[in-house]
Amino acid sequence: MATTPSSALHQKFLSLNYPPLYHNSQFRPPRLRRPSRHHCHPIRATSTVALPPERRSRAEEIQSSGVDLEVLACPICYEPLIRRGPPGLNLRAIYRSGFKCRKCDKSYSSKDIYLDLTVTAGLKEYVEVQPSGTELFRSPLVSFLYERGWRQNFNRSGFPGPDEEFKMAQDYFKSAEGGVLVDVSCGSGLFSRKFAKSGTYSAVVALDFSENMLRQSYEFFKRDPTLLDTNLALVRADVARLPFPSGSVDAVHAGAALHCWPSPSNAIAEITRILRSGGVFVGTTFLRYTPSTPWITRQLRESALQGYNYLTEEEIEDLCASCGLTNYTSNVQQAFIMFSAQKP
Ligand SMILES: C[S@@+](CC[C@H](N)C(=O)[O-])C[C@H]1O[C@@H](n2cnc3c(N)ncnc32)[C@H](O)[C@@H]1O
Repeated sequence: MATTPSSALHQKFLSLNYPPLYHNSQFRPPRLRRPSRHHCHPIRATSTVALPPERRSRAEEIQSSGVDLEVLACPICYEPLIRRGPPGLNLRAIYRSGFKCRKCDKSYSSKDIYLDLTVTAGLKEYVEVQPSGTELFRSPLVSFLYERGWRQNFNRSGFPGPDEEFKMAQDYFKSAEGGVLVDVSCGSGLFSRKFAKSGTYSAVVALDFSENMLRQSYEFFKRDPTLLDTNLALVRADVARLPFPSGSVDAVHAGAALHCWPSPSNAIAEITRILRSGGVFVGTTFLRYTPSTPWITRQLRESALQGYNYLTEEEIEDLCASCGLTNYTSNVQQAFIMFSAQKP
């Protein structure tokens, strides 16, 4: 059989330990024909602790169901996708797979190195411009600078820094150990890497709307080959349309992201939808102001922070409660807040 340049690249890719980043890759995952449960991604349970069905982690639920369920879902129908390709929530398996919605038939595949599960995936004509909190981070320059100085600036507002924030989040996620964690708005993958390396979760999905942040995430993943063999996936999605079935995820982390989302209420409702009963949401953001902020500073912040959704702690707690989340707790240092809430 003649070898075309693209199939040579594809062959090379298949023989590597991890997928290279082909900006103009000719690789297309195989076409999907008909649904088969063998094409679904099985998440293997890592623990057999007997829990009431409603408190089980996704991994335990899947093990007890006796069928292979795909964790990734269509962002339009929320139905688990059918996969044609190798199983596994890792970069290599996902890159080599094609996905299709069993309900609406829409196909999804990897673009560059991430799997595009936005509603607009594959569209050729329609272009949507998002609000500034989303658009800013789609820039290649901002994505490049993010872990090269941009994020360090957050310390001046009270953020304790990634190592400490990771430790704090891990404490809140104790009940989600062994389950699936989604790092929503992962940016350059700063925390996704830490969650994946911790070995605490059966899979970590690094998810963002920004194509360039996802490319940057992959550049950082590549520097640590151990990460490429872990269950770490890169997915493009909108927080308002998360590509997971309802009640399927054990933990959601969203670092420094709530103020960037176009609608925090839609986002928290959507996060609540994908969490299983007992699942935990941990988020950090900048507070608009705290009870100790002087009146004049409040007025200045109100006018300076337009375009972003900087909330007060009361608003965050109110939003979590209105979406049905319980056990709200928080840790505040200056403008930094880490909060957690649980799906009952
Ligand atoms: C300040 S960065 C936070 C990155 C990282 N989580 C951290 O803790 O440093 C905010 C991220 O939110 C993402 N974002 C903005 N709008 C989004 C949306 N509608 N859906 C998903 N992610 C979004 C941006 O692309 C950006 O990567």
